[in-house]
Amino acid sequence: MSRKRVAVLISGRGSNMAALIEVAKDKTFPAEIALVVSNRPDAGGVATARAAGIATEVVDHSASGKDRAAFERALQGVLEKDRIDIVCLAGFMRLLGAGFVSQWQGRLLNIHPALLPAFKGLDTHKRALEAGAKIHGATVHFVVAEMDSGPIIVHGAVAVRDDDSEATLAARVLEVEHRIYPLALKLVAEGRVRVVDGRCLIDGVPVPDGASLGPGR
Ligand code: GRF
Repeated sequence: MSRKRVAVLISGRGSNMAALIEVAKDKTFPAEIALVVSNRPDAGGVATARAAGIATEVVDHSASGKDRAAFERALQGVLEKDRIDIVCLAGFMRLLGAGFVSQWQGRLLNIHPALLPAFKGLDTHKRALEAGAKIHGATVHFVVAEMDSGPIIVHGAVAVRDDDSEATLAARVLEVEHRIYPLALKLVAEGRVRVVDGRCLIDGVPVPDGASLGPGR
């Protein structure tokens, strides 16, 4: 089976993007990173992708002003030109409209730095600490029109320590992110993920290796 062509959409440093590029170097991985798209010309991840020999495009949202549809048409244009099969949002800080999202239904993934459905939105580590959460983590999910709400593909958990700061907690969650995004992409690219009644069922892998990443692992 040919490898799925993946575009990673970023707005910033791109460490999740780098983790996906790294794992996809292996020719037996079921997806290849064909393209990195940034909505910001100055995103650090663009240089990282170029250094790794990955094609990059900048679709600058500010060029479309407040016209989100125009931005999304431009985005769709570069994805189609490169015959992209799967889109991974990785620190991509633009909300995508219902039209774009429905065109990519089941092929559009996002990573969120909390155990959804807890702590949707921003400042997740600060809010988890303030709430006294004992377990925190990250989620890879399919994107739907409502923010941070799509079917959950993989969770990765970390234990919250009494002496954690936002920064120490964020660093441990980020390590988990870099493990679960490759895993989730692999499962989707292999066609193992079915969405039934808003829940992801994983075919052929009863307990996906690493999907139950928990404290101390
Ligand atoms: C990550 O924490 C991700 O979960 C969130 O934005 C951050 C992006 O970091 N959506 P990076 O650009 O992948 O390093």
